[in-house]
Amino acid sequence: MNKELLDKVNKRRTFAIISHPDAGKTTITEQMLLLGGVIRSAGTVKARKTGNYATSDWMEIEKKRGISVTSSVMQFEYEGKRINILDTPGHQDFSEDTYRTLMAVDAAVMVIDSARGIEPQTKKLFKVVRQRGIPVFTFMNKLDRDGREPLDLVAELEDVLGIEGVAMNWPIGMGQTMKGLYDIANHRIELYHPADADHRFLPLNEAGRLDPDQPLADDPQYLDTMDEIELLEGAGAEFDREAVLAGKQTPVFFGSALTNFGVETFLQSFVDLAPAPAAHVVNETETLAPDDDEFSGFIFKIQANMNPQHRDRIAFVRVCSGEFSKGLDVTLARTGKPVRLNNAVEFESSARVQVSEAVAGDIVGLYDTGNFQIGDSIYAGKHKVEFAPLPEFTPELFMRVSPKNVMKQKSFHKGMNQLVQEGAVQLYRNYQTEDYILGAVGQLQFEVFQYRMKNEYNSDVEMTSLGHRVARWIDPDQLDPKMSSSRNLLVKDRFGNPLFLFENAFAERWFHDKYPDVKLTEKL
Ligand code: G4P
Repeated sequence: MNKELLDKVNKRRTFAIISHPDAGKTTITEQMLLLGGVIRSAGTVKARKTGNYATSDWMEIEKKRGISVTSSVMQFEYEGKRINILDTPGHQDFSEDTYRTLMAVDAAVMVIDSARGIEPQTKKLFKVVRQRGIPVFTFMNKLDRDGREPLDLVAELEDVLGIEGVAMNWPIGMGQTMKGLYDIANHRIELYHPADADHRFLPLNEAGRLDPDQPLADDPQYLDTMDEIELLEGAGAEFDREAVLAGKQTPVFFGSALTNFGVETFLQSFVDLAPAPAAHVVNETETLAPDDDEFSGFIFKIQANMNPQHRDRIAFVRVCSGEFSKGLDVTLARTGKPVRLNNAVEFESSARVQVSEAVAGDIVGLYDTGNFQIGDSIYAGKHKVEFAPLPEFTPELFMRVSPKNVMKQKSFHKGMNQLVQEGAVQLYRNYQTEDYILGAVGQLQFEVFQYRMKNEYNSDVEMTSLGHRVARWIDPDQLDPKMSSSRNLLVKDRFGNPLFLFENAFAERWFHDKYPDVKLTEKL
């Protein structure tokens, strides 16, 4: 055990924020950066978000990609801890990158709009987080507006996501009537409109109530809240740290990111309760401690041609053990070849952070000339370290692609291969005709693909949408090519495995009825 290294590792908190678009992820990120002293005024992060833009407008996409690079990792110091927030692109550029980023974090913060409750994208992201079994902290946002009943919102976590929600604080009023938060965890009341900064909190007595002479003590909202608190004490879940760490229970905090209410309390609890980087399973059965002396990590994201003039790629490495230093010699597990990590960037956004060091939990960006692939493991030292492969996420949108100019097959194939390797789109071939079909999690990937094929590989591509499809793999032994029709297109993935792209769930059911003995599987 390396005490000094372990101390550093224990200071790390690496997480991602998951939410449905517009729930307030950007706003809460911004408040956290403000609390961390990284930015000085609200609006800084917001300004980077381009809002409504035509997805076909490449300038905007490019701007956005540039942005998502600099904001891919936000690092700052808070209460003696080193925080890494990994950005999970949402909105139109929702992609496999978003999912894979969740492979590189130790915890997730789930932001929910309290008027809307759990929305589709939150559900999708939660599913990935759940599979990893990492802790999830819930922030019920927009309390300054009228939303749904707090009890409903907490119950929905169990009903829709299957995770037990345990209230850490409880709203006193909502929207126009919001007075504050009953802070169960810290045994105090946090006022929404304090007389001044020194009177933000009201202490509670032994019985967990305000003394009668306190402001708010006979306020109707406060009295309602007390009824609900009694109800929670009787019937609500009890906070259980082990269950939280195992991803079975989520601590629930209410607040309003926009008015910066409840965010600080949330961040303090999060930093306190969220886990430091833990051990990883490597080489299938071994356990690698985060304070192991030898450096190791895996690549969870590659971003290419961030600057079209320079054709550069950055491979994002999640450090899992040891300490990174510039010029480090490592081995790439996939090939067994040595690589010197000369050209690296770290993501320290605060000027106050002088020391440049990266240990388990931190993210390092490596300028890459084509050595790395998503999911690659790298390690220093003699003992081979190979992390579990990253899961593949099943695309939902599909496009048929072909070169516009059949004479330019070579550049078409080259571009296609390289861009597919980056992992933003998946490649399939029609089982019979060998036509190329691309699959992606989000629509923007196709547009980026088309643009980059033209600009980087000089290949104009024809794209025909197949729309939303349900991908299901079939055991090759059960396959009869006659099973295929236009409603369930038969294709093969890049490993040659056959799968059907069903037009919709109805087409899939029809298939099941017709071939009841055929087993279809959904990856993920
Ligand atoms: P996102 O990154 O999850 O997509 O959400 P974002 O933070 O951009 O917030 C989406 C909208 O919700 C924004 O309004 C934002 O101001 C608002 N919002 C975020 N947190 C709160 C909150 O606690 N209370 C209230 N009332 N609103 C909140 P917008 O009108 O789309 O953008 P803008 O005009 O404010 O820029």
